Amino acid sequence: MPELTDLNKTKDSGLDLTLRPQKWDDYIGQEKIKRNLQIIIGAAKIRKDPIEHILLYGPAGLGKTTLANLISVEIGGNLRTTSGPMIEKTGDLASILTNLNEGDILFIDEVHRLNKAVEEVLYPAMESRTLDIIIGKGASAKILQIQLPPFSIIAATTRIDLLSSPFRSRFGGTFKLDFYNEGDIEKIISRSAEILGLNINKNAMPLIARSSRSTPRIANRLLKRVRDFAQIYEKPIVTSDIVASALKLLEVDELGLEPSDKHILRVIIDKYNGGPVGLKTIAASCGEEEETVEGVYEPYLMRLGFLARTPKGRVVTELGYKHLNINPQNKNQSNFF
Ligand code: ADE
Repeated sequence: MPELTDLNKTKDSGLDLTLRPQKWDDYIGQEKIKRNLQIIIGAAKIRKDPIEHILLYGPAGLGKTTLANLISVEIGGNLRTTSGPMIEKTGDLASILTNLNEGDILFIDEVHRLNKAVEEVLYPAMESRTLDIIIGKGASAKILQIQLPPFSIIAATTRIDLLSSPFRSRFGGTFKLDFYNEGDIEKIISRSAEILGLNINKNAMPLIARSSRSTPRIANRLLKRVRDFAQIYEKPIVTSDIVASALKLLEVDELGLEPSDKHILRVIIDKYNGGPVGLKTIAASCGEEEETVEGVYEPYLMRLGFLARTPKGRVVTELGYKHLNINPQNKNQSNFF
């Protein structure tokens, strides 16, 4: 920890890249995945082969991109980054693939959003590193086969359930990232504070950790907002009181819930009597995309046990009611509307 706080030391822009671990030792948590990846990489290096294609899945913000980055550093290849929605046509994918060099890693984020036609071009590219291009139409159409250099794909998704099983089976390693425990999040906060030159008391870190939804990206975001708060109020040392005040101003509660999370619970309670209600209806009532409700809000609400997915739809649990101070017996008595 630096002796003196120098709040001006690091500019906020590009900070996420600054905080992102650049070597395995800096990557905290996900120990099993780390170990498995190190073995895959080590063995491929000995055999002088490209690593197997890897599929990483789990909720947003847990470090899938960071892991892809670490793998490419370890292999010494370039990381080429794209995402499912960015590859609209098979030609887009062909252009990406033909521009790869030996040892490159192609990182495809949000891979569940790849369209079917593109996915099918990817199959031979993954299996035999060939690209089949169809030239012409109808009976005179010909297939031109292009050999691609040895490369590997790392794909990431928050929705593995949306991937077809033929696609899933083409990955040599599939790993699920888990939410972090509080101790690991505190370590991440401590490391980030040091990089930022932020003098923060040890007992202030658990407060941020508890509000971070067990997610490093959120922990780092909250830490940066606390840093802003300390800067504006000219506090050279960040105490737990300062963290509490900053979180209160941000309307982040002690479990990390924000007004938008509570809004979803309240809409289900007030408009649909606590559920069951379908995802489409919830998204429309809250003015959010279905994907956002399902991928961003719901995983954490379910993890807290505040929301349940049932075959008939989403239901707010008793715990959820309790957190909002609403009596489940008087479901319609909250005066939200
Ligand atoms: N930043 C984001 N994820 C991280 C992790 N797992 N360890 C350290 N810093 C991180």
